[in-house]
Amino acid sequence: PQTVRRDADGRLEVGGVDVVTLAREYGTAAYVIDEEDFRSRARAFRDDFAAPFEPVCGGVDVYYAGKAFLCTTVARWVAEEGLSLDVASGGELAVAQRAGFPAERIGMHGNNKSLAEIQQALDYGVGRIIVDSFEEIERIAAVATELGVRAPVMVRVTVGVEAHTHEFIATAHEDQKFGFSLAGGRAQEAIDRILERSDVLDLRGLHSHIGSQIFDTSGFEVSARRLIGLHAEVAQRHGVHMPEMDLGGGYGIAYTSEHTPLTPADLGKQMAELVRREFAALNGGSEAGDDVSVPRISIEPGRAIVGPSTFTLYEVGTVKDVDLGHGAKRTYVSVDGGMSDNVRTALYDADYSCTLASRRSEAVPRLSRVVGKHCESGDIVVMDEYLPDDITSGDLVAVPGTGAYCRSLSSQYNHVPRPPVVAVRAGEARVIVRRETVDDLLALDVG
Ligand code: LLP
Repeated sequence: PQTVRRDADGRLEVGGVDVVTLAREYGTAAYVIDEEDFRSRARAFRDDFAAPFEPVCGGVDVYYAGKAFLCTTVARWVAEEGLSLDVASGGELAVAQRAGFPAERIGMHGNNKSLAEIQQALDYGVGRIIVDSFEEIERIAAVATELGVRAPVMVRVTVGVEAHTHEFIATAHEDQKFGFSLAGGRAQEAIDRILERSDVLDLRGLHSHIGSQIFDTSGFEVSARRLIGLHAEVAQRHGVHMPEMDLGGGYGIAYTSEHTPLTPADLGKQMAELVRREFAALNGGSEAGDDVSVPRISIEPGRAIVGPSTFTLYEVGTVKDVDLGHGAKRTYVSVDGGMSDNVRTALYDADYSCTLASRRSEAVPRLSRVVGKHCESGDIVVMDEYLPDDITSGDLVAVPGTGAYCRSLSSQYNHVPRPPVVAVRAGEARVIVRRETVDDLLALDVG
């Protein structure tokens, strides 16, 4: 987070609260989220990313992707900062409802939404449902008919882009479960079907999301270009000018010094210019009067807003040197959490760093591996890090960049209760998601 510093005793301090105090008050492991950092990243997308779009399409709607991390308090921060919210299940929508999030600023995703989820969304009056299959078109039409409403829908288009990221988090190549294929003509068919049911379905626009943790903007460019092509085709073929277009999320963050992400301002500049150029090219050739107007653009960043705002605070339990042969050693530093609170290292080979947080040390740095307390050897939090060789039981370590897809992908593996989320701001800390208890773990057991 932006407000991290070391105090005079070498303790890490965030939002004006030092980690030793945090550990004493709330225990470890704990996710510590810097409220101001979260809010300022949200504002950077809302203002800096959006500014270059003003002259092109009047601005941008930023849908914070709640799958990255959502709880009632965070949903309220998102609402207060004037952003919209992307939810991907009835559960995420329930959090939004509990927070009183304005319904018209919610977009609902999912490749297999249940009838109950569609009912929940239309009952609440969400601003858009992003349609992902032909069955879903029928389901939404049925529920809308039953409720006597016209459902606002967008079509998720598989644009056929190979995003340069881990294969599990790339989503716009052909051979995967999301969306309607553009190359295969499915997207066009879906649009036809929706327009046939325009009594109960309101076609708002096209949507594409190419993947996550992406740095190379060329993927976004190809995707936007294809989406714009389809948008124009719909205008020409059906005379329908869809008012919105969503370019998805996926902006990468720096987990280690290896990456330097573009700022929201620079991203916005590049994307706005591309949208402007594509529409100008489309309209340049046409007769005056049948111009394709530029739809309102929206995006769905999750990681880029919440990822850097949080670090996980752990306490060191055991320290073990392992002989690798040829005189080489590796130090295994075990902490009081692991793959249950951060599965990303095990699942995606994700790179994290970490630092000794509770004190300063002049000791020699030693190549270490930070591991959890779960019973598998793949339970690694930080693969390689130089930690001082006097690190010992009771020290605190902080792993930065754990705001996105850590708590939200967490589990109770080995019946380890999940850590709390503690928000810090202006010298004060408060729990926004409490720590699980053993009673919570047992609460669902019947018998
Ligand atoms: N929109 C849609 C339709 C999405 O599927 C996603 C992410 C986003 C937006 C937000 O993407 P972001 O801006 O956060 O990259 N668990 C994986 C990431 C899965 C992403 C799923 N969809 C990870 O830990 O890296």
